[in-house]
This record gives sequence, structure tokens and C-alpha cells, in this order.
Amino acid sequence: MFQNSAEKSACYRPIVILNGETSVNQTDFIQQLPKVELHLHIEGSLEPEMMFELAQRNQIKLPFSTPEAIKAAYQFSNLQSFLDIYYQGANVLQHEQDFYDLTWAYMLRCHQDNVIHTEIFFDPQTHTERGIAFATVIDGIHRALEDAQQKLGISSRIIMCFLRHLDEESAFETLQQSLPHKDKIVGVGLDSSELGHPPEKFTRVFRQAREEGFLTVAHAGEEGPVSNIYNSVELLKVSRIDHGVRCSDDEKLVAELVQSQMPLTVCPLSNTKLKVFEKMEQHNIVELLREGVQVTINSDDPAYFGGYMTDNFLAVAQSHTLTEDELAQFTRNAINATFISQAEKQALMNKLDSFVAGR
Ligand code: ADE
Ligand code: ZN
Repeated sequence: MFQNSAEKSACYRPIVILNGETSVNQTDFIQQLPKVELHLHIEGSLEPEMMFELAQRNQIKLPFSTPEAIKAAYQFSNLQSFLDIYYQGANVLQHEQDFYDLTWAYMLRCHQDNVIHTEIFFDPQTHTERGIAFATVIDGIHRALEDAQQKLGISSRIIMCFLRHLDEESAFETLQQSLPHKDKIVGVGLDSSELGHPPEKFTRVFRQAREEGFLTVAHAGEEGPVSNIYNSVELLKVSRIDHGVRCSDDEKLVAELVQSQMPLTVCPLSNTKLKVFEKMEQHNIVELLREGVQVTINSDDPAYFGGYMTDNFLAVAQSHTLTEDELAQFTRNAINATFISQAEKQALMNKLDSFVAGR
């Protein structure tokens, strides 16, 4: 609803920030802030309750007797300790309807969190390696996203990731399988175990993907060295770096990221859960924001790391002192970094601007 300026000043509420703790007003602001998610693995949104339900529906035996027991097992010491559990969990996904239900549940969470646009990763090889058809996976995800656009007004895109712990041949095969579904996939990415699997292993696959018209992104500098960030940019020609927080190890790289305006899709709760940073207070996202890096806030694998988009914003705001302008800047950066048209970006920017102006 439009407000004139007199009404606006009458309902203006100053925020009180004490030592990085969020006040009620700031919590409200974060909840209502329009958000854009650019780093979300759909398999990582599989909540223990749904895992349990799907295991029963598909008659798959889980090594846990309750959803609570599953949650209790989510204690991670690094990326690999998480991935081992995460790939096991994905085994309950068997049918197109399972992928639909998974994606629809995530989109309902987006709706609650005022996420207005999301770009979703999926890992085809996690499923095709178990004999599930590529079409089963993509069709279930895509149908839920179409419903979310219609019923919830949330726009979206799909990015397929290659698992970097598998070989180049498997990635080429996956790229081939994706071609009949090109109209549903905007880009390709690279995820899984970063250590020991540098971006250069996939230079040729990414070249072919670009020739097919896909945009590219890659996880780099999550646990791995800054050379993975440099090489993702130079060899894989990425439009965004996923995570990238290790860039702070190299001042020259930070300066280049600022100069090139290369977006980083940062995932605060993921980074503390996987011990990239011991505590949220030590996280470098706010420092990077103030240096001019195009950082964004994302949830990565929310069912495993304790929170969706609002939770991630709150975790950063509770551990750092941030203004409303800075919080809104995370969304601004994300809108600029999306894989949508200029007109669609402008429509999202208008939503953000009218929210900020209406405060
Ligand atoms: N796959 C799912 N989450 C991931 C992460 N945080 N890093 C690498 N691969 C992933
Ligand atoms: Zn990720």
C-alpha cells in the first residue's frame, strides 16, 4: 500500500542496535525484507520429517528410528563429514512426486521468509548414479517451481551442479543428459568435495556447457585455497562464486573481486556448521560488504545447517552491527547477480525499493 510522507514519518520506528544483538524492530525488518536466494541445494532442504515420510512411502530403510535421531546425527567437523550424511539422505528421493514435494516444501519456506526469487541447485549425479532418470528429477523440481510462480508469486531458475569428486567423463555424460531439458536449466555449477578436486579438472566440460548456452558458477574458496577462486573465474568463466569466503586470505584477490563486481553467494550458517569459521562473530561477510565485494546471504543446505534465509540474515545481524541499508544491500547485490533479464531484475529492485521506502 502507498503511503504519503506524513504517514511514513508517523510510523517510522528507529532501530536500536546493541552490541550486534537484534532489537525487535530489526528482527521485524529482517523478516519482512524482500530476499533473493542464489545458493540453495534442493537436496539440502530435505527436512528429517520429510526424509522419514519418504523412506516409509518408498520402503527404504534408514539407519535412524526417528526424525529426532536424524537431527542428532547432524554434527559436522568439516565439509566431507556433512557430505557423507547428505548423500545418504538423498536416497529416499525416488519418484517425480518426491522431487515435487521436496521443492514445494522449500518454496513454502521461501514464501514465509519473503523470498521473492530463488535460483536452485540440484545434483543430477546423486540420483542418476542410483538409477533414477534425469527426467524424473528435473520434471519434479520444475513442476513445483511453476506452481510456486503461479500460486505464491515467487520466480525461480534451476542450475545443475556437477559433483567434483566424480570424474570428467561422468560430468560430460550428465551434460549430455541435460540437453533435452535445456529450456528448464539456466546454468551449470560445481559442488561437493573441494579439497583435491580443483576447478581445472572441469575446464573442458564447462567450455562445452558454455557452448550449449549455459551460464556457469562454481563452489570455490569454501574450504579450498584462493587458487580455486582465481581458476574458477579464469578457466570456468563463472558469473558468480559460490562461498568464496577464503578470498580474505589474499588482499589482491579481494581488490579484484571489488573491481570486477564478481558476486559471492555466501552461506553464513553453513560456514559455522562446517567450521569454516568457528563463530559467527568471526565471519568475514560484513567486512567484505564494507570493502565493496558483492556479497549475498544464502542458506546452502537449510535442513542440515539450522536455518533458511531469515535465519541466516538474523545470525549475521546478531553477531555484527548492521544498519537497515546494509541489510537491504545484501538483497540489492543478489538481485544484480541473478540470471534473469534486466526487466525482471528491475521488477525485483522495485519491490525492494518500495519496501525500504515504506519503512
Ligand atoms: N553440496 C551441498 N552443499 C555443499 C557445500 N556447502 N559445499 C560443497 N558441496 C555441497
Ligand atoms: Zn553449496
